[in-house]
Amino acid sequence: MVIFENVSKVYDDGTVAVDNLNLEVGKGELVVFIGPSGCGKTTSLKMTNRLEDPSSGRILVNGDDITRLNKVKLRRNIGYVIQQIGLFPHMTVAENIGIVPRLFKWQQKKTGKRVDELLEMAGLVPPMKYKYRLPEQLSGGQQQRIGVLRALAVEPQVILMDEPFGALDPISRDNLQNELMDLQRRLKKTIIFVTHDIDEALKIADKIVIMRRGKVVQIGTPAEIQGQPVNDFVKDFIGQDRLSAIDADSPVKMIMEEAPLVFKMDHKPGRILDELEDLGYDSAQVLDRNGYWAGMVTIAQVKRASRRKLSLKQVLKVDRKLPVEDATLRDAAVMLDDIDLPIPVVDKDKKLLGLVTHNGIAKLTVSRLQRQTAKQEEGGS
Ligand SMILES: Nc1ncnc2c1ncn2[C@@H]1O[C@H](COP(=O)(O)OP(=O)(O)OP(=O)(O)O)[C@@H](O)[C@H]1O
Ligand SMILES: [Mg+2]
Repeated sequence: MVIFENVSKVYDDGTVAVDNLNLEVGKGELVVFIGPSGCGKTTSLKMTNRLEDPSSGRILVNGDDITRLNKVKLRRNIGYVIQQIGLFPHMTVAENIGIVPRLFKWQQKKTGKRVDELLEMAGLVPPMKYKYRLPEQLSGGQQQRIGVLRALAVEPQVILMDEPFGALDPISRDNLQNELMDLQRRLKKTIIFVTHDIDEALKIADKIVIMRRGKVVQIGTPAEIQGQPVNDFVKDFIGQDRLSAIDADSPVKMIMEEAPLVFKMDHKPGRILDELEDLGYDSAQVLDRNGYWAGMVTIAQVKRASRRKLSLKQVLKVDRKLPVEDATLRDAAVMLDDIDLPIPVVDKDKKLLGLVTHNGIAKLTVSRLQRQTAKQEEGGS
């Protein structure tokens, strides 16, 4: 959905704000940029909707090189929550949220309905109470929420958010994080999100981009970043506390890997068997017609189905799975110890999120051992 190709930005005074950024943000993905102040996060966002243009490289949105698109149209289709909130002080809350709908020439009634809906979503209820206030009549956290709502008003496909929850208390922050994740899942929005807060990043991101002095240091899922930090900078950023806090009660998400082989219900067992054998896998995941997890199949069962002309459904294993909301590493270990087959991880809607395998646990263990060794060496010298 958004692709950065060798993107660099050198400001007029010679500051290299972004240095050769390469990144692909998939449709429906929530990517979080994190890194110390001045590492180029805001500049990266600004280049995405052409508030700044790269000095070299290019950015594609939906396949189009954005320098070829009309700037105004591009910005209308990309929601942007700026770092300083940026509400218009002389406009009411409703007017602020309604800016982009107005540009899209929505009917007043439709805009009004949408404003109410958004205010309710952000817990600013009843909407009547807040709609006609000016920004200065709101608390800092409430203003920040309006800034977020404004970017969501017309449900753009791409949303850029620059530290949108910075000024919120922990509870509102948690609520809005959940809302955002829910929105992303339901509506498949592509979101690029900037934060200073590693806990926030680990919680909401599909993919985290850790930057330092304009350069990308590591890109990975929260689990990969925690399980296999590439260097000391990343380790320090995540914090020793968080790294050594990983234990049997940690969420299973930490070691989740992408499912390499996924079939649909209507695939023929014979074809699945061929692919399993070609790739050397023992099992695969199966999705139903709507794309939700239906079960898994083992190679032995697929062989049986193929031989006896059974349907895929008849050999599907449906009870071996871990719910992402509350499964722990301990649960995974117990199940893997029982049968050495990848375990699918699903959410409450039965969406397949990934797999847990022996390999994931092994990687985590290796990196912990490495860290311990490094610590002992530090201590000894
Ligand atoms: N308009 C500008 N002209 C010159 N230098 C700039 C300009 N805007 C930003 N910079 C510099 O570019 C670098 C990256 O800035 P950027 O705003 O992208 O950082 P950031 O990662 O968003 O930081 P923060 O976490 O503090 O918001 C910094 O060194 C900053 O001083
Ligand atoms: Mg910034």
